[in-house]
Amino acid sequence: MRHDFPVTACPQYGVLGDSLSGERAMDILGISCFYHDSAACLIRDGEILAAAQEERFTRNKHDPRFPKNAISYCLTEAGIKGEDLDYVVFYDKPLLTFERLLLSYLTVAPKGIRSWLQAMPLWLGQKLHIPKIIRKEIGYEGEVLFTEHHESHAASAFYPSPFKEAAILTIDGVGEWATATYGFGKGNDLTLLKELHFPDSLGLLYSAFTYFTGFKVNSGEYKLMGLAPYGVPKYKDLILSELIDVKADGSIRLNLSYFDYVGGLRMTNSRFSKLFGGPPRKPETEITQREMDLAASIQAVTEEVVMRMVKHVHEETKQKFLCMAGGVTLNCVANGRILHEGPFEDIWIQPAAGDAGGALGAALSTWYRYLGKERSVVEGSDSQHGSYLGPAFSNDEIKTFLDTRGYPYHGLNAGDRSKIISEHLAQGKIIGYMSGRMEFGPRALGARSILADARREDTQEVMNLKIKYRESFRPFAPSVLEEKASEYFDIENPSPYMLLVAKVKEERRLPQPSADELQMLERLKVKRSDLPAITHLDYSARLQTVNKSHKPDYYGVISAFEKLTGCAVIVNTSFNIRGEPIICSPEDAYRCFMRTEMDILVMEDSILFKEEQPDWEEKGGWRSELELD
Ligand SMILES: [Fe+2]
Repeated sequence: MRHDFPVTACPQYGVLGDSLSGERAMDILGISCFYHDSAACLIRDGEILAAAQEERFTRNKHDPRFPKNAISYCLTEAGIKGEDLDYVVFYDKPLLTFERLLLSYLTVAPKGIRSWLQAMPLWLGQKLHIPKIIRKEIGYEGEVLFTEHHESHAASAFYPSPFKEAAILTIDGVGEWATATYGFGKGNDLTLLKELHFPDSLGLLYSAFTYFTGFKVNSGEYKLMGLAPYGVPKYKDLILSELIDVKADGSIRLNLSYFDYVGGLRMTNSRFSKLFGGPPRKPETEITQREMDLAASIQAVTEEVVMRMVKHVHEETKQKFLCMAGGVTLNCVANGRILHEGPFEDIWIQPAAGDAGGALGAALSTWYRYLGKERSVVEGSDSQHGSYLGPAFSNDEIKTFLDTRGYPYHGLNAGDRSKIISEHLAQGKIIGYMSGRMEFGPRALGARSILADARREDTQEVMNLKIKYRESFRPFAPSVLEEKASEYFDIENPSPYMLLVAKVKEERRLPQPSADELQMLERLKVKRSDLPAITHLDYSARLQTVNKSHKPDYYGVISAFEKLTGCAVIVNTSFNIRGEPIICSPEDAYRCFMRTEMDILVMEDSILFKEEQPDWEEKGGWRSELELD
């Protein structure tokens, strides 16, 4: 494990807590950890300076441990030490969660004894001693504050948003007692009006289906969503009649006789299996039509619940805009519907919508709510900095790494960098692209991405089989120049954080054979548009619109590609292979480059060609499970 991570300080922020006015600035560290997706975030005078997830440093996906590497990075970026911090704030109130666990256990006791005994050591050893751990780990002597879990989500949704005033909706599995909340934000204030309580949880319902279809809870939800277009929602009515009672206002009641998560170690029980015609799919086994239909069904139910919630929040708050966070709001298909179907004029979703983003929300909540500092909003622009909030590596650092290891590389000049990269893309080369500060949030946005030509019919198969080691028919996500997005997709608003889906424009679509003519697996291989690598079966794409000022180098690459080919869209998938966190450092990038059949690696202004590299022993390998990240 690495502790002192080599990072490039960000010069615009100065050092040692000096604010631009010359007064000593106030530094607040937000921390989220001990559940999943640990993270740290540092804000200076309300400005987001740095944020990163612990998994990127430890290389342990969804790492839940105390984020000492992420904290160390944040402090380095800010040029301060732990003892210089003004406040440290934890994103959740562990005592409330403990109370929920205790009462849940008492409700089902003695049935839940195994899960209770499994949870206790972590509670007694860590979760109930957070201030002590923080002081010990980072040498901070001041006060440790706690925000409520959904307050952290709400703050992460509203404060960085481009809205002075907006409604707020948070939906996740559970945080303390709450599973969803809504309210509104105005200026520097945030008011949560109502909340939905455990065990009635849309996130846990979705996770139950994630478990039942053989994916990992808290990480496989995204795969389940990606699987939905391949099925038909034939179980939707059954879910609505048996598992969940959805009220007109979007609040829900779950029928707990089908679930095991209140006191058990599993999400669903044998009644659930009986309802859906057999036991859960075993992980790593073949995915059948049943799983695809279950995915389509729970997706349809989720959308219905979310749409009702959104409508109700609009009626209650009368706001024009909506901000969202919480794990469920990473469901970009539901988000696309909210944007297209209204009633809100515009929406903004925190890119780190899961619990990692709680670190950011906790810090911002301290600045605005606890300290009452003023909030100014630049019309039309958020303060998330494109979510490029992680470590960057300078050209010198990269060259030192390559020289030390003796890896052959070539330099790229600023003048022809984009042109050269775009020429390789147009030749069908697959390029690992590491540039600038790492993204905060689960999506790669052109700082730690694998790039390819979206027009080529073979891109999808080659990338799936030789790079990502997953089944060959999965389409990828596109990046498109922001101002050209509406030429390719049915979308009017920017989607800088890849949190919305939109349909490929009708004139670009190709007619498809019907379900009767071809089997599902055959249908999946049919070319669906003039951008085959990124078009899903239902013509949708999960797109990133690239803004010139947020990410000039990446914008430059797509721009050069358009000049060369007439196409302003490229494939962008996260720079990792299955089971691995997205890469962070040059070392991670090189290892992933060599473990796969990627052709080229670009790290800042250095370019590496696979055929010039020395032999690499450790390889990835084909695995059968679908992989959609
Ligand atoms: Fe959460």
